[in-house]
Amino acid sequence: MYCTPIEPNYTPKRIVPFLVRTRSSAAFVAIIRWISAEAARMLPSPIATLRRRFEESDFGRRWTEAGGWPGAVGVAWRRYYLRALMRWPRSGWRERRTVRAVLRSGRWGGYPFPGPWTRRFSRAFASMHAVPHVIPASSGATALLAAYQSLGLMPGDEVVVPALTFSATATAAHLLGLRVAFVDIDPLTLCLDHRLVEAAIGPHTRAIVAVHLGDSMPDMDALLEIARRRGLRLVEDCAHAHGASWQGRPAGGLGDVGCFSFQTGKLMSSGEGGAITTHNDGLAATCVATVDCGRVHGGLPDQSRLGINLRLTELQAALLSCAAERFGRENAVRQRRMESLRDQLGSVEGIRLPRRDPRMTSRPAYAFQMLYLPEACGGVPRERFVADLCDAGFPATPSWYQPVYRSPEYGRLDPRTPAPPAAPACPVAESVATTSLVWIPHPFFLGPQRHITRLARTVARLIDSYRHHGRAGDSP
Ligand SMILES: Cc1ncc(COP(=O)(O)O)c(C=O)c1O
Repeated sequence: MYCTPIEPNYTPKRIVPFLVRTRSSAAFVAIIRWISAEAARMLPSPIATLRRRFEESDFGRRWTEAGGWPGAVGVAWRRYYLRALMRWPRSGWRERRTVRAVLRSGRWGGYPFPGPWTRRFSRAFASMHAVPHVIPASSGATALLAAYQSLGLMPGDEVVVPALTFSATATAAHLLGLRVAFVDIDPLTLCLDHRLVEAAIGPHTRAIVAVHLGDSMPDMDALLEIARRRGLRLVEDCAHAHGASWQGRPAGGLGDVGCFSFQTGKLMSSGEGGAITTHNDGLAATCVATVDCGRVHGGLPDQSRLGINLRLTELQAALLSCAAERFGRENAVRQRRMESLRDQLGSVEGIRLPRRDPRMTSRPAYAFQMLYLPEACGGVPRERFVADLCDAGFPATPSWYQPVYRSPEYGRLDPRTPAPPAAPACPVAESVATTSLVWIPHPFFLGPQRHITRLARTVARLIDSYRHHGRAGDSP
C-alpha cells in the first residue's frame, strides 16, 4: 500500500487529521509504538520491576553468582548426576530373581520362624561377623528392644547410652521402662566417652550401650574392661557398623550382644529389618523366643516367654541374602575411598577428623564424618559450608542426630517420671551436633575416585576463601 511519509515538523495536532486523510495504517502503528516507548521510559515497567526484585532476592543473588543460565544448567546437571550416584539401595538381576523365587514359593512372611531364606541369611551374616548366633528381627529398633529384654533388664534398671546417637538406642530402653543415663561423647572418636562412663554408673545400672557411629567406634577395650569389672552387660548398637572390626574381632561379637539395622539407608538393606548377634547360646535362645511371640524353640508348646511378633519376613531375608553377596566388594571400595579422603583432608586447616585408631582394623563405612571448625574458618557457620558443598555437587549434610535428651518426649515414656528429667550436661555432643559435625553418606563413596579428589579440593578451596573473606561472603 502506498504511504505518505511523515514530515518531521508535523505536530500531533496536525498529524492526526493528516493520517485520517491519508488512511495510513503503517503510520498509525509507528505512532502507537512511539507513544508506548515514551510511556515505558517514563513509567517503571512491570518486567523491569520483577527483574530487579528477582536480582535482589537471595535466590536471584545466588543465581547471578552461579553464572546465570550456564551456571544453572551446570548445577542442574550436577544435581541429576548426584541423585543417580546416590541411588540407594541398589538392586539388579540377583534381587529380581530372588524376589520372584520367594513370590513363587508362597512363603512371604516370617512364620514359621525361621524360614529357609531367613536361615540362609542368618548363616551368611553369622560368617560375616564371626558369631555363632544371628537372630533376624523386623528392624534395628526392635532388635535393640528384644536384646534389652532378653538380657533380663527390668523396669527401673538403668542403661548407659551415648548422648549422640539415633533416638532408637534410647527409645527402645524407655519402652521397656528402663532409665537411660546419657553420657557425653569423646571429642576424638565422637562415640561414648569411656572416661565418663564410670561416673555415670549407679546402683541400678545394668548395661552399657556402645554405639558405633558413622565411621568411628568407641574405645571398645576400655568399655569391655569397665563392663567386666563392674559386672555390667555390654550391648553394641551396630546399625552403622556392618563389616567393621576392632582388633580383628567383628563388631556385634565384642560385647554380650550386637544389634544391626537393615533399614533403607543402611550399608545392607531390605527396606526395613534388623538382627541380633551373640556368642551366648542361652541368650540366643531367649532372643529367638522374644522376636517370635514368646515361642520357646525346641521346648514344649506351652513353654512360652514374654515376646511379640518382631520377625523378619522371607522377602526381606531374600533381599538381605543378595545384599550379603554384594557387601564385601562394595564395602572394600567405600573403605578405600573414605581412607583416601581422610588422607587428603588430614592437612586442611579448619577441618578435624575422628581419630584414626589402629585398633579399628576395619572401620565402619556408614558415613564419612568431619568436624568443620567455624572459628578457624573466618566465623563462617557450618550451614554455609554445607550449602556451598551441596552447590558444588557433593551430598554433604549437617549431623543427622542431635543429643537424644533434647527430644521433648525424652523421659515421658516412663510413666513413673512425672516430668522430663533435667537435660544432662553433654557439652561435646551439643557443640559437635549443633556447630561442627558434617556427614557425607556412604553411597557417594561407591562413585569414582576422581570425585573424592574433587571433594577434597573443594573443601580446601572453600575454607581458604572463608579464611580470607570471613563472614563477608556469608549468606544472610
Ligand atoms: C545408631 C542407630 N541405632 C538404631 C537404629 C534403628 O534402626 P531401625 O531404623 O532399623 O529401627 C538406627 C537407624 O537409623 C541407628 O542409626
